[in-house]
Amino acid sequence: MFGEFESARSHDRKSDLAARICSALRVHATIEEEIFYPAYLEATQDTEIHHEAEIEHQGAKRLIDEIESTGPDDDHFEARVSVLQEMIRHHVKEEERSGGMFAKARSSDMDLRALGRQLEERKLELKGESDEGGMQRMPPGRSRGAGRDMRMRSH
Ligand SMILES: [Fe+2]
Repeated sequence: MFGEFESARSHDRKSDLAARICSALRVHATIEEEIFYPAYLEATQDTEIHHEAEIEHQGAKRLIDEIESTGPDDDHFEARVSVLQEMIRHHVKEEERSGGMFAKARSSDMDLRALGRQLEERKLELKGESDEGGMQRMPPGRSRGAGRDMRMRSH
């Protein structure tokens, strides 16, 4: 979706894509913070990686708030979306690198299957909520690929 945003020309299309990027990322961040991160901390006692990930989420969410409260008319709109993309790329790399959060989670005694189910359940719940709120902005047939390149994973 970030790629589509970059190549989009019209303000309508840009604001539609930005809204979808933001809501998908918000859902993803929320389920991790509510379910995965606390379980990770409890199982590994690894405050360093855990806190860093939390702070990265906070930074991304601040940017998401700003993107959602402005629009393509704002001077810094595109810059915000592009910095958000860089932040997410960095964050995902940190989570997925060897010795990173996911690797450590896999070698811990965390019940990843159960967590995966909880994450999925909560994700569907939150997506239902945000779809209701976002109806105006999403004409039928436009929901294709929502979250497709958001690296949605069940951990
Ligand atoms: Fe994360």
